[in-house]
Amino acid sequence: MINIGRIWRNILGLKPAPAEFVGYENLVHFITKRALLELEGDLIEIGAYMGGGTVKLARLARRHGKKLYVIDTFDPASDKAISKSAVRATEVYQAFLEGRSMWEVYREATRPFRNVVTIIEDSRKVMFDEERKFAFGFVDGCHEKACVENDFYLIWRHLVPGGVVAFHDYRYDDWPEVTEALEGLMDKHKYEIRETHEVVGSYGISSILLTKK
Ligand SMILES: C[S@@+](CC[C@H](N)C(=O)[O-])C[C@H]1O[C@@H](n2cnc3c(N)ncnc32)[C@H](O)[C@@H]1O
Repeated sequence: MINIGRIWRNILGLKPAPAEFVGYENLVHFITKRALLELEGDLIEIGAYMGGGTVKLARLARRHGKKLYVIDTFDPASDKAISKSAVRATEVYQAFLEGRSMWEVYREATRPFRNVVTIIEDSRKVMFDEERKFAFGFVDGCHEKACVENDFYLIWRHLVPGGVVAFHDYRYDDWPEVTEALEGLMDKHKYEIRETHEVVGSYGISSILLTKK
């Protein structure tokens, strides 16, 4: 099949988009099918890494005249999480970067998107103005329980009714604290959640999507 995007990239001398590890097209499909971007508010992503998924969300957001807020430290060494199988998050990040700077790779990938607002910060230090509204959020940042809880509240407080927040690595054995945090949050906020969806993505790893009442 002819890939128009690739042809244009070649003509313009642009590099192909970096890899992503979630299967963002499944999220894009869900957002589109549910017409989530007809709702008031922008999009937010926590944990962009090289920006391979960011550009997919940014493209969709741009079509709807929306911004995509992105939070990441862009510092592979700052993530101290160690998975159940004893893999250090920082080592995984370094391996795929192959010596490149995470920030440089991300910046290059997202350069064409003027609707991307990048916040270079630990998500635990980020606060939004009260009036900020989000229609969709995606979280794939730090996999520790306290981080997941932080990232949930950071978005949930600003999510409009009918809006969706999604978390990667749900029920993924290697990051059990993600599931532990989410099960607690889903129970605590069950009267505010209209529905939940599990979407299977790349490598058979799921994201859970929570729709706010
Ligand atoms: C698993 S990677 C994200 C992968 C990305 N979703 C993809 O598929 O390409 C996790 C990202 O979260 C970032 N991160 C980890 N802890 C963070 C924190 N406390 N605040 C902000 N970003 C964080 C890391 O720098 C890394 O880029």
